[in-house]
Amino acid sequence: MYWMGVDVGTGGTRALLVDAGGKEIAAVTAPHEDMRMAQPLWAEQRPEDWAQAAVQAIRGVLAKARASGDDVRGVGMSGQMHGLVILDRDNAVIRRALIWCDQRSQPQVDFINAKLGRDKVLEYTANPVLTGFTLPKLLWVRDHEPRQFEYVRKMLLPKDYVRFTLTGEFASEVSDASGTALFDVVHRRWSFEMMDGLGLDRAILPMCTESSEVSGAISTQAAAVTGLKAGTPVVGGGGDQAASAVGNGIVESGVVSCTLGTSGVVFAHMEKVAYDPQGRVHTFCHAVRDKWHVMGVTQGAGLSLQWLRNQLAPGATYDSLTEEAAAAPAGSQGLFWLPYLMGERTPHLNAQARGGWIGLTAKHTRADLIRAVIEGVSYSQKDGLDVVEQLGVAVSSVRASGGGARSLFWRQILADVFGKRVARLETQEGSAYGAALLAMVGTGEYASVPEACAATIREADSVEPRAAESALYARAHEVYRALYPALQPLYGRMT
Ligand code: XUL
Repeated sequence: MYWMGVDVGTGGTRALLVDAGGKEIAAVTAPHEDMRMAQPLWAEQRPEDWAQAAVQAIRGVLAKARASGDDVRGVGMSGQMHGLVILDRDNAVIRRALIWCDQRSQPQVDFINAKLGRDKVLEYTANPVLTGFTLPKLLWVRDHEPRQFEYVRKMLLPKDYVRFTLTGEFASEVSDASGTALFDVVHRRWSFEMMDGLGLDRAILPMCTESSEVSGAISTQAAAVTGLKAGTPVVGGGGDQAASAVGNGIVESGVVSCTLGTSGVVFAHMEKVAYDPQGRVHTFCHAVRDKWHVMGVTQGAGLSLQWLRNQLAPGATYDSLTEEAAAAPAGSQGLFWLPYLMGERTPHLNAQARGGWIGLTAKHTRADLIRAVIEGVSYSQKDGLDVVEQLGVAVSSVRASGGGARSLFWRQILADVFGKRVARLETQEGSAYGAALLAMVGTGEYASVPEACAATIREADSVEPRAAESALYARAHEVYRALYPALQPLYGRMT
């Protein structure tokens, strides 16, 4: 018997099959179209493209594993968070989704704060509202495309739209719902206070379950195109970060994860809900029943390296880039990279922040440029880790995952910058794996998420921080931290 995790990422949708012991059987990713950036800091994707990619990935993974729909006992969904999908009364997508890294909605954030009061927003949702979150994106549509807004009958998050195409159900779950700015994170329910306060129709919200609860089943139509069996249970799953945390076994206090995908996220489990009064990190519901988590987000983590590759080293592999970077000395000869390619969340919460190298001299080589990018993203993740620790979370070690963490070179830099042991797990699947584990819990194979993690997740290896490099990076991190406030007054003028 197998369980399937389906992760609707930014670059592609991945379907993964695991067996009852948590062993990975096969995985297939179907790529998405590039995100559309009609203006700087705007980012859109077509939900229909995700749905097609999901079908392709599911069919692909069944074929690769030589499995049939009968072999799959349950499906778990995971996906990029915060995106806005709006449907009309015929359940057709009204416009392209504004996705997680879209930063156009600062006026709407200001409006929400003025209308409801910052303190009330924090009280209702446990977080300040940010441009990245779903609500201001919805209000942007209301303000700029009022005719389109008139047609809105449902709003869904990215994975929940794909779930709808697979099950016909309008459903979300607590971890992803937490990132909408419309969710009462403390009480784990939609915030009617937010909806009513802004004059929004409650009926547009999907139902919301705990992450490991079954909320629907594969429909006959979806069965016909995917090869899954009609009636196969589909559990809530999780936002990609909560699902990845499950896949990394971050389901109790002490160990923290660092996931380097397009974004970079430092993630910690919390037994009791607590939030940063400045809102530099997000406090969201965990995919573990009645638990929460806190996370710090670097908007442009893997994205920084991807951008560098596309613009300056087209055709290069990430392995060749990190190999080249390893030839440069630690600290990149005083060169710094600010990863603010899509504004920044943790710790600056500034949609207008801009990225770049600072400190270039004629002596610098491309190796320094690449190494500085890897170091800059690592400093940014350290900023997130620092805020998490300031919230009282004890961090003994960090589990690294995501594309960036495949590189030993990058994991060593993380260990040096964090001053902590950085471990890698036997499974590198992250979100799709976590989604499959949630499906196992939902279908009764394991009694709880921590039990599923304990039975399936093991560390493969780890790197320790090196004293000399750690000291060097600690000094460099101070310079890095001073760069943002120095540049911040100018960002608004860089249009
Ligand atoms: C988390 C976040 C990103 C996206 C894309 O808050 O915005 O991690 O989920 O992966």
